[in-house]
Amino acid sequence: MEERIIVGNMKVDMLKEDALHYVETFKGEYNNVVLCPSSIYLNYFMDTKVKLGLQNIFYDGTICTGEITSRQAVSMGIKYVIIGHSERRYYLDESNETINKKVKDAVEHNLGVLLCVGESEEEKENGRADEVIKRQVYTALRGIENIRNVAIAYEPVWAIGTNKLPTNDEIKDKVLLIKKVCKDLLGYENARVIYGGSVNVENVEELNKIEEISGFLIGGASTEPETFEKIIQIINNRQN
Ligand code: PGA
Repeated sequence: MEERIIVGNMKVDMLKEDALHYVETFKGEYNNVVLCPSSIYLNYFMDTKVKLGLQNIFYDGTICTGEITSRQAVSMGIKYVIIGHSERRYYLDESNETINKKVKDAVEHNLGVLLCVGESEEEKENGRADEVIKRQVYTALRGIENIRNVAIAYEPVWAIGTNKLPTNDEIKDKVLLIKKVCKDLLGYENARVIYGGSVNVENVEELNKIEEISGFLIGGASTEPETFEKIIQIINNRQN
């Protein structure tokens, strides 16, 4: 059975003491887990027995004060990067075109990419979800040599941090849509799609029954180390 990737998007909630507590408490060794703390705390996480990721990246060849490039990430042993999170699309106006440049650059530097896509509540209500997702996937991934190192995270914006969940069938439909766009419009076979949005220790067992997904992107519930390790064990139990 394919090993599911489990990504912790720790966002910006933690202060220094929380980060230190986290690395003291999180003891497990997991090949399929990627922790993405705020980059100012990354050094604390270097001794954890999981892979590390950034929450964003900038593209090389352009100088931009305050950003982090793929080359810098690689030089620190970082393996993954989250690109196009809906919070960045919303607050920073990150466009699909900018996201495409970031994905290209990260792929060229052999970073694993976690590309976030998903419709807003309004887009869902107006029946535009599929069209929005198609455009996000197509524009972000066009012109990429191959997507072996890319996982696409389907994260409905209305499910992020809200405790609202799509049904398993709704998730499955969107996952199949994303795989179809990758195959039919971009020529990428076997795209990997993961799910994100309000995943927690209570609902993960049910979500883990969806055959078509390749893993999870977990925000709030990843910031508490004991809870996150419980979630990891539930997901990984499916494979044993
Ligand atoms: P959540 O966040 O798990 O807190 O809903 C997911 C995300 O923003 O990636």
